[in-house]
Amino acid sequence: MNEKLMNEDLKYIFHPCTQMKDHEKLPLIPIKKGKGAYIFDFDGNRYLDCISSWWVNLFGHSNPYINSKIKEQIEELEHVIFAGFTHKPAIDLARRLVGITPEPLKKVFFADNGSSAIEIALKMSFQYFKNRDESRPIFVSLKNSYHGETMGALAVSDTGLYKDVYSDILLKTIQAKSPSLVDEDEAISDMKDIFLMHKGKIASVVIEPLVQCAGSMKMYNPSYISKLRALCDEMGVFLIADEVAVGFGRTGSMFACEQAGVSPDFLCLSKGITGGYMPLSVVLFTEDIYNAFYCDYSEGKSFLDSHSYTGNTLACAVANAVLDIFENENIIEKNREKIALLNELLKPLEKLKNVKEVRQRGMICAIELQGYDAKQRVGLKFFQEALKKGIYIRPLGDVIYFMPPYIITKEEIKKMVGVVEELLLVM
Ligand SMILES: Cc1ncc(COP(=O)(O)O)c(C=O)c1O
Repeated sequence: MNEKLMNEDLKYIFHPCTQMKDHEKLPLIPIKKGKGAYIFDFDGNRYLDCISSWWVNLFGHSNPYINSKIKEQIEELEHVIFAGFTHKPAIDLARRLVGITPEPLKKVFFADNGSSAIEIALKMSFQYFKNRDESRPIFVSLKNSYHGETMGALAVSDTGLYKDVYSDILLKTIQAKSPSLVDEDEAISDMKDIFLMHKGKIASVVIEPLVQCAGSMKMYNPSYISKLRALCDEMGVFLIADEVAVGFGRTGSMFACEQAGVSPDFLCLSKGITGGYMPLSVVLFTEDIYNAFYCDYSEGKSFLDSHSYTGNTLACAVANAVLDIFENENIIEKNREKIALLNELLKPLEKLKNVKEVRQRGMICAIELQGYDAKQRVGLKFFQEALKKGIYIRPLGDVIYFMPPYIITKEEIKKMVGVVEELLLVM
């Protein structure tokens, strides 16, 4: 059955982030069902989903509580236009998100994927100044950053693999030195130089707090964020925190910015927000930003961004269910033991000759390999070999990483790390 479905798929579908020709040799795996931390194919094989299906799944596949909430909601209302109408799941979600994010964030704008959330934050930060008769056409981000694939999000990204081919048609933006690659003070000083050189022209700076996930899971300390916050305040530039990947507990705290004790002006959230069930994203921002758009329609200062599925009712209901689980099951606290176990199990890997560095921040772990030729595509080999042992990983180049669902058990963590360790010894 796997093979029949694979062939039919390949006849019609162009998959994301995939060179389709690879599938001449590499089998595409049709998945029949998911349960807990596992996904199952049509030939009866099961795979431990060690990357939470692209970092979205928090509480397992086919989670009974989330399933019950989505069923409840679908009997009432699946979706309704979100301009001129509203619904309770969205109102509840907005209130709850404002309640658990830093104090200055008071308002919520909905979208349906991480890239769109970034577009919204960029557009709003630009228009905020425009509405005050200031032109600030420059956005700054960090080297090695990744903020999504739509044109604006790609323009503030720095991952050449995805961006370079489009460079002729992208908005020109500036990438400052990243604290994940250079010393923190050097990175701040570079940012300051950029701010001074383009004084009065920069609308916002966008960062991935603590972990640059698609950028090989490179990590940095919260102190950089505090320093950047102070610099943004001094220079009157908005700070956008892209917590699309790191929000909802990934770095050990509910939101990564918490660890720096600061609030961004815009907070972008997606991925884990629905526990991997539905496409949804939100941008939270301050009352001051909201007020910059609040005026008579005739003044022409409205923020008229929209997507058909903005504020989708089912997605909001699911997001509320996810927040219920966080609250009722004390997830952040419970994850601490798993984070410590991962740390303990990963330590010995640092000594292996083909391991350059082991990195961990909360429930994100990365093992950077060394000594392989890029043409060998060693990550792909790890993926294939791990899969044979029931472990699903999707390395980023020569970086193997784990971002498991929070329901993963200690035994499963041991299995996951154990399989990769075995492979490291033989490959
Ligand atoms: C930090 C970050 N921002 C934005 C995005 C884009 O989100 P989406 O893939 O939902 O458009 C991603 C996706 O991986 C991400 O990691």
